[in-house]
Amino acid sequence: MSFREEIKKRRTFAIISHPDAGKTTLTEKLLLFGGAIQTAGAVKSNKIKKSATSDFMEIEKQRGISVATSVMGFEYRDLMINILDTPGHKDFAEDTYRTLTAVDSVIVVIDVAKGVEEQTERLVEVCRMRKTPVIVFINKLDREGKDGFELLDEIEEKLNLKVRPLSWPIGMGRIFQGVYNIYEEKLVLFRPHSKQGEEDKIEFSDLADPELEKFIGEKAAAELREEVHMIQEVYPTFNQKDYLHGELSPVFFGSAINNFGVKELLDCFVEIAPTPLPRITEERKVDPEEDQFAGFIFKIHANMDPKHRDRIAFMRICAGKFERNTNYLHVRQNRKMKFSNPTSFMAAKKSIVDEAFPGDVVGLYDSGNFKIGDSITGGEVLHFKGIPSFSPEQFRYVNNADPMKQKQLVKGLDQLMDEGVAQLFTKENNGRKIIGTVGALQFDVIQYRLKHEYGASVDYEPVHLYKACWVESDDPEAFKEFLNRRKRDIARDKQGNYVFMAESAWTLKMAQENHPEVQFHFKSEF
Ligand code: G4P
Repeated sequence: MSFREEIKKRRTFAIISHPDAGKTTLTEKLLLFGGAIQTAGAVKSNKIKKSATSDFMEIEKQRGISVATSVMGFEYRDLMINILDTPGHKDFAEDTYRTLTAVDSVIVVIDVAKGVEEQTERLVEVCRMRKTPVIVFINKLDREGKDGFELLDEIEEKLNLKVRPLSWPIGMGRIFQGVYNIYEEKLVLFRPHSKQGEEDKIEFSDLADPELEKFIGEKAAAELREEVHMIQEVYPTFNQKDYLHGELSPVFFGSAINNFGVKELLDCFVEIAPTPLPRITEERKVDPEEDQFAGFIFKIHANMDPKHRDRIAFMRICAGKFERNTNYLHVRQNRKMKFSNPTSFMAAKKSIVDEAFPGDVVGLYDSGNFKIGDSITGGEVLHFKGIPSFSPEQFRYVNNADPMKQKQLVKGLDQLMDEGVAQLFTKENNGRKIIGTVGALQFDVIQYRLKHEYGASVDYEPVHLYKACWVESDDPEAFKEFLNRRKRDIARDKQGNYVFMAESAWTLKMAQENHPEVQFHFKSEF
């Protein structure tokens, strides 16, 4: 197969949702279709339970298991599908943001009863920023839930997505009969727990056909006709171009647990979802079909076994063919590196690969050389963009609790920050260190890992902060004056960038008003 064909075969995506909407269940059903797993329940172990905030050890155990399932590759209809797993727990949201930089499209799962939930809003916002194509799957139609049109309105309002239903439910909950697949013009009837196959689909291009009553009864037939008519009137016709530009999101309805609507979703997905897309670097746009290899690290996974300290760095291949035992340039460190055991994640199993192609994710064993965002290339100096840090939401001073272990502490903190566990800020006025995280859980993670992996101890001290804003200005004099005046609130991030540590929304507002020449950003890349 030619290099170009290899690329065109690949579809790399993530499934995102608010916890409990059914992401794990859907992933599992997709893998079953792809033959990547044989039994339901195989992916479950990967799930970090929502209730586990207090049970950090349990989370770590699950994290250990999830290395292999971080990327799940399978073949379907001659295509190579890579699903990148995203942690469900909200305290790991930042991990999910970064994973979104490594995919070419996403499927958003929404619970029919709960509608659009908070975490989905934030995740989709990141997709919108990047213009990532989004397909929506409304799940749990076997239960009572919100009206279909109400849900579509909610998606448009809260997620800011323009939608186009490609299937439509016939009833829901107790009276759920199936869906009408508008895209394929087929009636798909619901039989709980059946293995959904072609036999459940009935060609039905003309809903006016009185045969419809035979299948779903008079009342449902009348409703379906009216609703589909309304859809055709109100929503734009689906076109792939708008979807690929992230401007139109097809919507499907189904029930993942019953394996209903999943195959249709997958069949449509493989038809419309983008092949590996170009990536932007500071220097230029990188096209997958270029000869020279280029990729970036989007996730680093620590090995929880203290006897094996190495980590796995996940690299998304963006251009060219990646080959084992070949010299590549680690751009940030400006040195050549060879990888003897690059790992692929086909069929949820790890195996060593000799070559991999754009769209693929390979795992590289790492003894501390990588950090998130690092570029690896065939020789060219490239810096991939779009892997920003977001302003943390929780902050604490971190103190060394064991002065004999200062060196271990510095190293440990440094490596954990490279992994993207949290962000470290150093105050300009007194050199004190503040850790900022998305969720409270990370503080436990850091304390525990510093102790077990580096032998260092820390304790935390509360610090009242609202946001960390990256600041810059075109006016060097005004910027200097700002930094001087607000010295107490200024810190540097790990890269040495200036950050304004706002105590409250009000302090931030005042600073913005008093220093109009300074720009305040809520993420590290602007
Ligand atoms: P998540 O990864 O998004 O957090 O969700 P997950 O797939 O774990 O699903 C959350 C719960 O919703 C699970 O129940 C799952 O069985 C259920 N679920 C998923 N899809 C459907 C569906 O189509 N219909 C219905 N009725 N339920 C669905 P649980 O009780 O939390 O877990 P379990 O005991 O079933 O494993």
